[in-house]
Amino acid sequence: MKNTHIKSWVTGFALAAGILAAAQPASRIPFNEGWTFEKDGERRTVDLPHDWGVEGVFSQVFPGESGKLRWWGKAVYRKHLDINPEDLDKEVRLEIDGAMSHATVRVNGIDLGGWPYGYASFAVDLTPALKEGANEIVIALDNPEESSRWYPGGGLYRNVWLTKTARTAVAHWGTHVTTETGPVNQNPDCADATVTLRVTLRHVGDETVGMVRTRIYRQDRFKRNGEEMTVNRILAETRSIELITDGKEVWQTFDLENARLWTPDDPAMYIARTTVETPDEVLDTYETPFGVRRAEWRADGFYLNGKKTFLKGVCLHHDAGALGAAWNDDAWVRRLVMLKAMGCNAIRTSHNPPAPEFLDLCDRMGFLVLDELTDTWTVPKKEHGYAELFDEWAEKDLVAMIRRDRNHPSVIAWSIGNECGEQGMEEKWDIPRRLTEICHREDPTRPTTAGNDNPWAAGQGYAETIDLYGFNYKPHLYAAFRDAHPGKPFYGSETASCISTRGYYRFPVEEEKGKGWTMEPPFQVSSYDLYAPGWASKPDYEWAFEDQVPECAGEFVWTGYDYLGEPTPFNMDPSVLTNFHTEEEREAFKKMVAGWGQVIAEVPLPSRSSYFGIIDLAGFPKDRFWLYQARWRPELPMVHVLPHWTWPGREGQVTPVHAYTSGDEAELFVNGRSQGRKARDGYRFRWDDVVYEPGTLKVVAYRNGLVWAEETLRTAGPTKAVVLETDFAGKELTYLTARLEDKVGTRVPDADNLLTFKVKGPAVLVATDAGDPTSHTPFHSSEIRAFHGLASVIIRRTGDGPVTVSVASDGLKSAKIILP
Ligand code: GAL
Repeated sequence: MKNTHIKSWVTGFALAAGILAAAQPASRIPFNEGWTFEKDGERRTVDLPHDWGVEGVFSQVFPGESGKLRWWGKAVYRKHLDINPEDLDKEVRLEIDGAMSHATVRVNGIDLGGWPYGYASFAVDLTPALKEGANEIVIALDNPEESSRWYPGGGLYRNVWLTKTARTAVAHWGTHVTTETGPVNQNPDCADATVTLRVTLRHVGDETVGMVRTRIYRQDRFKRNGEEMTVNRILAETRSIELITDGKEVWQTFDLENARLWTPDDPAMYIARTTVETPDEVLDTYETPFGVRRAEWRADGFYLNGKKTFLKGVCLHHDAGALGAAWNDDAWVRRLVMLKAMGCNAIRTSHNPPAPEFLDLCDRMGFLVLDELTDTWTVPKKEHGYAELFDEWAEKDLVAMIRRDRNHPSVIAWSIGNECGEQGMEEKWDIPRRLTEICHREDPTRPTTAGNDNPWAAGQGYAETIDLYGFNYKPHLYAAFRDAHPGKPFYGSETASCISTRGYYRFPVEEEKGKGWTMEPPFQVSSYDLYAPGWASKPDYEWAFEDQVPECAGEFVWTGYDYLGEPTPFNMDPSVLTNFHTEEEREAFKKMVAGWGQVIAEVPLPSRSSYFGIIDLAGFPKDRFWLYQARWRPELPMVHVLPHWTWPGREGQVTPVHAYTSGDEAELFVNGRSQGRKARDGYRFRWDDVVYEPGTLKVVAYRNGLVWAEETLRTAGPTKAVVLETDFAGKELTYLTARLEDKVGTRVPDADNLLTFKVKGPAVLVATDAGDPTSHTPFHSSEIRAFHGLASVIIRRTGDGPVTVSVASDGLKSAKIILP
């Protein structure tokens, strides 16, 4: 079965997760539990991370563009903090990884500041307002409507931490590590390295003498007598005796002989553990995980440790489907595992800084990251979007992003913006110039980039305002750009924007971009992977140019996963009008949008999540998953055939069959009769004249004349049973998949039976989702319709002991599973 290799990644990474955390003081503790939440006159207790939008219900009257959920509004979070007499000698800090949005923090009624940008991480020093005993922390949020082109979420949707340190300690985000490597020894990739750590100290009071000591550790994991063991080996140590003043920077260097280099395949991590000491005591301990790697952008592409590495990337928005914007480690391990299985090695965090843990996972699981600041500079895309904040906050937000993220080996460039209107306004190019300068000042080791859609700007001095040129949907400009800007690295910052619905196929299959859907029910897009909005294309179009222009450093597909909001083509958002290749395309699109207004009047568009994903919102791969896998993992023997083969009523009709394979030839059989053996010609194999008859559809792929991979589909009979299996078991969440089958266990590809889930034991049902972009069933519902034969349920463990999850559906054999 094709999915087995996904499972083996799951096990590997579930183990890997949780071994290292982001740069932080050892004294930092989670401050997530038991907040009182007040919104719209309602008050209740919640644990963070908390997204108030996703808890609600979908409403047809809310904009599909931002997910048809009510994520805007004002709310207040309150929590008590007990302070002992000893704490009064300390610096007490609240670290907020993300608050959506316009947060202000008050303690005991005293205003301590806040941060407006919902995607920024920030710290608030509570010390001036604290008193012995009970203290009240109040965080007020005010999340404006019309501020986002996608679902932003609302609330304290990432982790909140409390840090208590001595008055002499490492400052917030106070370490900066850089590495330099010598020649690479292959197998495993190692090199002698020099590590430089800059430590910024915070100090209250008169100057004092102290020692800053850093030890570099490597965590080794191995098995002894079948048991997993971890040891921390000390590899190097530096001590500096310093006269400590507030803001003092201490530089320390270390030589690491034969250091294991960080790569996506072998993401070897080290830790620098810094202590601030007096002769009598250790005042502070601060850990900085890092990797040793050389990342270079050259004229002909991206090089990691001297090896040319094509960026097989995807863009991702920050929501995790049914969990909304609320950060959850397990949800993201699961998502990244799937991307890894596809062969993806890179992610663009479109269009905002991610949760810090996201970058920890990328470090540990091996992804290269473009860390992005914003979707707008000063030219607005939404009435209350980032343009309102830009003048006052852009530098602060950029500095916050870089200081927080610059120690992550996964991060390979700072993306300062996406499709900003200023591309076309020469008088405003000081903006990207200035943002690039700030990036270089804060981190001289990484280049800047931006996602650009304005074809004119690519040929102008605008291109010189950023270090790397990112093209959104303009692969036809790659060659001209290379010739016009010799030596300048470039890549596809957004590619394809192919749209499809998992398991939905439309006939006849017509090649034109817009023939995969109509503006009427079921509001789904055919999964032949041929369809895209006007500015976009099928993946094959992008690849043809990548193959012609080897200097292109890689691509970031729009998008890896479906996300909440922006349900193009069933969307009303005209903000992407800048994306067109020609004026005619733009005009045609405008006309189409005008037409949509009419459709909306007559048949309201129900869609609330996107169709762009290679993987659907519930985490089920669409056909495209295997199209990318075939290209990105050419050495993996695999073949995938589509559509499904259960078409009652289509007997005798032409039903085109496509196959995606890493092989170089493929042969298709319908009920054992060959439909022809074909040699590779392009990126997919096509048998466009196949006539449907029930039975078996089999494809055999070859490489160098030998059988390379096979897949067989069978026509399903009537639905008889629902089965349940564990898809992913994390630290806290378990994802289960319910599948509808006929009497012999064949998946029924169109089954949409209503399923009821029940949980017994110490666990709760968190969410259900089946990946249907038009579904208005709330995510917290325990009843959901299967979508194309599948549904997913997310369970959260609340204690020890066995948990039983069952699923039932009228007239079908039910199923249950006991979670260990
Ligand atoms: C791009 C934009 C993305 C998304 C995408 C859809 O222009 O940068 O945020 O809107 O279009 O194709």
